[in-house]
Amino acid sequence: MIQPNVCIFNGDKLTIGNNVSINENSYLECKGKVEIGNDVMIGHGVSILSNTHNYNRIDLPMNEQGESSEKIRIGNNVWIGAKATILMGIHIGDNAIVGAHALVNKDVPPNAIVGGVPAKILRMRR
Ligand SMILES: CC(C)(COP(=O)(O)OP(=O)(O)OC[C@H]1O[C@@H](n2cnc3c(N)ncnc32)[C@H](O)[C@@H]1OP(=O)(O)O)[C@@H](O)C(=O)NCCC(=O)NCCS
Repeated sequence: MIQPNVCIFNGDKLTIGNNVSINENSYLECKGKVEIGNDVMIGHGVSILSNTHNYNRIDLPMNEQGESSEKIRIGNNVWIGAKATILMGIHIGDNAIVGAHALVNKDVPPNAIVGGVPAKILRMRR
């Protein structure tokens, strides 16, 4: 179920499994593709960002340097807490939990609970 005020860009590159909920004010940029498995809960205000601005050149404005994008994969039975941000190229393993406000810039192993900025493993689910 997708709640009101969820922004989805490039939705043709988004795949969503069964029994998935996405809460209010979440923002999905799917330019690099976003794959969401089954039984996934996405809290409110979550950002899923599969692209970024290029910035390597100092002699050119960043808004003229183009963008890069990479697929984000979210496994099955994952819970993403409110206001977490998932960056491009990230894979979140099955049964994982992402804590509220986490910045996920590294892959999350299956069954892990992660939190913080940047996100670290808090503990493993048993
Ligand atoms: C991640 C979460 C599930 C962990 O819950 P928990 O297992 O009960 O964890 P605890 O409260 O026992 O905390 C365990 C440790 O993790 C830390 N921690 C918990 N949540 C954290 C978070 N979101 N970010 C960073 N650290 C966090 C705690 O400070 C604690 O650290 P310490 O051992 O050094 O004191 C929970 O804190 C969370 O963020 N839930 C999301 C809530 C939400 O978004 N609800 C909206 C509905 S979709």
